[in-house]
Amino acid sequence: MASKARQQEYAGLCRAIAEHDYRYYALADPAISDEGYDTLMRRVAQLEEEYPELRGPDSPTQRVGGGITKEFPTVQHAVPMLSLANTYSEADLRDFHRRVTEALGHDDVAYHAELKIDGVAVSLQYEDGLLVRGATRGDGTQGDEITANIRTVRGLPFRVLSGPLAGARFEARGEVYMDAHSFERLNTERERDGEKLFANPRNSAAGSLKMQDSALVAARGLRIFVYSLLGVEGAIHSQDAAFAALREAGFPVNPHARLCAGVGELLAFIDEWEAGRDTLPYDIDGVVIKVNEFALQDKLGAIAKSPRWAIAYKFTARKASTVLRGITFQVGRTGAVTPVAELEPVPLAGSTISRATLHNEDFVRQLDLHIGDRVFIEKGGDVIPKVSGVDTEARPPEAEPFVFTRECPSCGTGLYRAEGDAAWFCGNPVCPAQVRARIEHFASRAAMDIEGLGEAVVDTLVARGLLDSFADLYDLYEHRAELEAIDRFGEKSVARLLDGIEASKSRPFDRVLYAIGIRFVGEGTARLLARALPSFELLRAADAVTLAAVPGVGPRIADSIVRYFADPHSRALVDRLIARGVTAEADTQDAVLDPFFAGRTFVLTGTLTRFTRDEARAEIERRGGKVSGSVSARTAHVIAGAEAGSKLDKALALGIPVLTEEEFLSRIT
Ligand code: IVH
Repeated sequence: MASKARQQEYAGLCRAIAEHDYRYYALADPAISDEGYDTLMRRVAQLEEEYPELRGPDSPTQRVGGGITKEFPTVQHAVPMLSLANTYSEADLRDFHRRVTEALGHDDVAYHAELKIDGVAVSLQYEDGLLVRGATRGDGTQGDEITANIRTVRGLPFRVLSGPLAGARFEARGEVYMDAHSFERLNTERERDGEKLFANPRNSAAGSLKMQDSALVAARGLRIFVYSLLGVEGAIHSQDAAFAALREAGFPVNPHARLCAGVGELLAFIDEWEAGRDTLPYDIDGVVIKVNEFALQDKLGAIAKSPRWAIAYKFTARKASTVLRGITFQVGRTGAVTPVAELEPVPLAGSTISRATLHNEDFVRQLDLHIGDRVFIEKGGDVIPKVSGVDTEARPPEAEPFVFTRECPSCGTGLYRAEGDAAWFCGNPVCPAQVRARIEHFASRAAMDIEGLGEAVVDTLVARGLLDSFADLYDLYEHRAELEAIDRFGEKSVARLLDGIEASKSRPFDRVLYAIGIRFVGEGTARLLARALPSFELLRAADAVTLAAVPGVGPRIADSIVRYFADPHSRALVDRLIARGVTAEADTQDAVLDPFFAGRTFVLTGTLTRFTRDEARAEIERRGGKVSGSVSARTAHVIAGAEAGSKLDKALALGIPVLTEEEFLSRIT
């Protein structure tokens, strides 16, 4: 049985996580670092493991999935999920408005204009304010029950936080989507792994929702915007009020909806977003226009499969054509060699495109690309532009068909292509391009986040023979003089780099695991692994069967991990990291995580009577907080002792809450 204190700790953590989810996903205004958030999640998981009775239907750990569904049961929609009639022009829109006003007998009608999110429609059933069922649209009458997968959608509240929907029974509907960042990451991973790429974020969202293993769905990082509220008859009278209620309940609701008085205002909204769609981190394919008042919607009713009170205004697709100047090859950190189209620069939907990935040899073959060809470039939302076709009519007679390389462009080693793999690989473990890419990956933000170690610096250090692997980073201290002698480096930037390397030693274990670049082990998988096998020692000792039993880790990933640790070269690298003091195990045991401190930055100022500065710092860090020397907008609290000076003034000026020593003391005892 969990003690009272543990129960309270658990409840506090769950509340804090729900609040952080809401701030991050619904408000886009996070109040905690990713690291701090992960730490909270790890503590919740640990408590649940120790005291399974704590885990409720709204536990945040459900977000990481774990359940396998062999076949999704079919469910009936209480109210059919209709689709919308499409329009493409101002004239169509005026027709719609005319039909609406004629049917209503007056033209006093307000429209709620919303972005048309390009994703997958889902239905969400809440009972007593708790999420109990998620389903796909299916044919509109019945869909698949995909609750386990829906629970992994970021930012979707498991329990309604506040407002009129708290504790209520209702249905919310919305669009599950994948944002541009996750889509890019997913396709990059798939490309590296020689898997088929998703054509666009919508397809990848749809594909993800249909996966049987919810832990894999969780790793995809799906998101949602909710746009309909049903089953609250009488309480809410309009679409804009429904948006407000959903928002208050804690749902991510798209912030760019607008109430429009007539066609003129609607057209302005449409123009704004047709031009502005590329500024969004997700795809939209148009604008949805809805009669705002529910009473008027009811009056208008529906015909066949679409309502008469709403319409979709679709944007035109964005394509451009340009000349293929050449094809170059990029060597990734796994050795996969990717062809890249070098294009005559062409403006497309807000940016100038001069390169585009060609994925692999099959893709180049399918298009039968010749150098000098006129090719079509397409862009979906904020996503990487892609070559979608070639104008064979316009092919210059002298154009040569393109021949894929059989040698590594970096080291000249012959390439190989494994059975079932779309990619060609360079198998040379010391290929300079791979070495560079592996170090860049190691230092990248999501991995070890080493400040001062960008691509250019890595290139320089590799070229000078100072780096052969990421493990060499931790020996750079010994080469300080050599570093400082490099052009444009100087004492200051060397100091910054070495500090960055030093700081990276204490990154959490899951990030180290991601950083070392085991094939198929992305950020999500690394977190799952670190939770199940929380040290290098345990991971190395685990066999493929044990690894494959970890939720979210299948046989393919398990094999890859076993292979990695069986390789003497990789083992030696990891040993060197451990020897240099890089985190080698997950910190789940002794930390006393406290949501008040975890992931937040504190500044100490003035004279404390009961602690030295170092003691106070240790108390904060032990609880997952950070201590900084200067006050900024990122400071959570300033702890002010006697005779506090300018830091206290700055905190007050910035409106940052100040704790007295007494208050600090009561927080930690
Ligand atoms: S309302 C009867 N609102 O577009 C109401 N749909 O073409 C039907 N969609 O199936 C849905 N954003 O998948 C609505 N703000 C939004 C939307 C939206 C995207 C999708 C949804 C729907 C399809 C209709």
